[in-house]
Amino acid sequence: MTQYGRTIEIGPTDNTSNERTPRHPLHLIPDSARASFAPYAPYNYGINPGEADMTRLAAGRPRADGDPIKVTGTITDQFGRPIRNSLVEIWNANKHGRYTHIEDQSGLPLDPNFLGIGRTISDENGNYEFWSIRPGEYLARPDIGRWRPKHIHMSIRGGSSRLITQMYFNGDPHNDADPMRILMGDNFDKNIGKEYDTPGKEFDCGYQFDIVIGGKNPTFFENDIA
Ligand SMILES: [Fe+2]
Repeated sequence: MTQYGRTIEIGPTDNTSNERTPRHPLHLIPDSARASFAPYAPYNYGINPGEADMTRLAAGRPRADGDPIKVTGTITDQFGRPIRNSLVEIWNANKHGRYTHIEDQSGLPLDPNFLGIGRTISDENGNYEFWSIRPGEYLARPDIGRWRPKHIHMSIRGGSSRLITQMYFNGDPHNDADPMRILMGDNFDKNIGKEYDTPGKEFDCGYQFDIVIGGKNPTFFENDIA
């Protein structure tokens, strides 16, 4: 029996079990993915537009420490058709590399003005946009000295489907050794936000992160890890 796969038996008491039971062995998601922090937010399409602004707790409140950034992108299917009205949930560490999460016991500074979670919905053209603070890298595995490079977690959800991915930053010195990046192989570039200039002083810069769902050349999703 392999350590990395198991087969679910078809149950004898449920006559729909035969249809719902996977035909192929299940695979464990690597620790690096399972250890990801999930946002705690109710699933509700009636979101407040302010939830896309992670640079403040609420309108009129002080701005969080660090570099404010804009992240934009388009969610499309394999044929380039926009995926509209998808719930995009975002979470990232603060500028020190600390999550506002009970499981983050790193002791790094918290920022009282940065919650680190946000939500938005793709528009009719599949476009999404949110504002955040450029995250810091963090020592994810002190026992083996493994760092995570700067990254932003994103969940794309519509109906009963949920896909989770991460946007990386070009040139981060920890990129090459990142377990997730290694799994992405040659597709890693697609998970790097493409930096662009933003007018004015409100943002340090913008990042374009287009997401393709389905087909032969999709964005890398943690759900796909085999
Ligand atoms: Fe993370």
